[in-house]
Amino acid sequence: MTVHLVGAGPGDPGLITARGLDLIRTCDALVYDRLVARELVDEAPAGAIRISRESLSQDEIDELLVAWGRRRLEVVRLKGGDPFVFGRGGEEALALARAGIPFEVVPGISSLAAVPAAAGIPITHRGLASQVTAVSGHDDATLDYEWLARSRGTIIVFMGLERLGAIANGLVGAGKDAATPAAVVARGTTDEQRVAVASLATIAEAARKLESPALLVVGDVVRVRSLLAEPATRELLSA
Ligand SMILES: C[S@@+](CC[C@H](N)C(=O)[O-])C[C@H]1O[C@@H](n2cnc3c(N)ncnc32)[C@H](O)[C@@H]1O
Repeated sequence: MTVHLVGAGPGDPGLITARGLDLIRTCDALVYDRLVARELVDEAPAGAIRISRESLSQDEIDELLVAWGRRRLEVVRLKGGDPFVFGRGGEEALALARAGIPFEVVPGISSLAAVPAAAGIPITHRGLASQVTAVSGHDDATLDYEWLARSRGTIIVFMGLERLGAIANGLVGAGKDAATPAAVVARGTTDEQRVAVASLATIAEAARKLESPALLVVGDVVRVRSLLAEPATRELLSA
């Protein structure tokens, strides 16, 4: 095996898999994403090549992985969360497959469930949500608001912080109840985690001071956060 597409987990360096950490500790070369914890990058051997993804385009990364793979280096491509969840890991895997370079995907804990969980929000909960829809808010104009507003259960929006107001308005405009509970969890699972909770109508204002990376969670599951915070309820839940 030469190229390993490794999920680093959602932010807390302790949330990488044991296999992912072993691979970092023994690699010859490491290309890492901006959101990856510094502590994980520091785990690479002293002599390993380390390159931040920020300085490279996606095409350049693909070419680099193929070139290093041809040299039979043990390469770790360290990506935030899980490589195949809004991570362009599929594109990198395809580039390697086309070039005939052996590779593997080492899954990571995606922010999808881990970040809401770190804020006390289960993305499904019996009686509240048995369905989850995950979308990218990067280009909110491409979102199908009618469909999202009709969907039941929890909506998770990745990369939506900059367009939060437009996304919330789009959902309400398409018929989603303006009073639907919503939360934004920024820098989830890290020491810098911040959470804003409000209604869908007011979440953009409530979250205006939060910084990226952040995840928007829309749905009744957000209410569980306050239930978990009340000691009396916690006793009931554990009874
Ligand atoms: C390019 S996507 C990568 C997702 C990643 N592959 C995963 O599985 O979590 C980056 C987006 O994921 C979300 N995200 C990742 N880490 C996060 C964190 N620690 N706290 C909040 N949101 C996070 C944010 O919406 C961010 O803009």
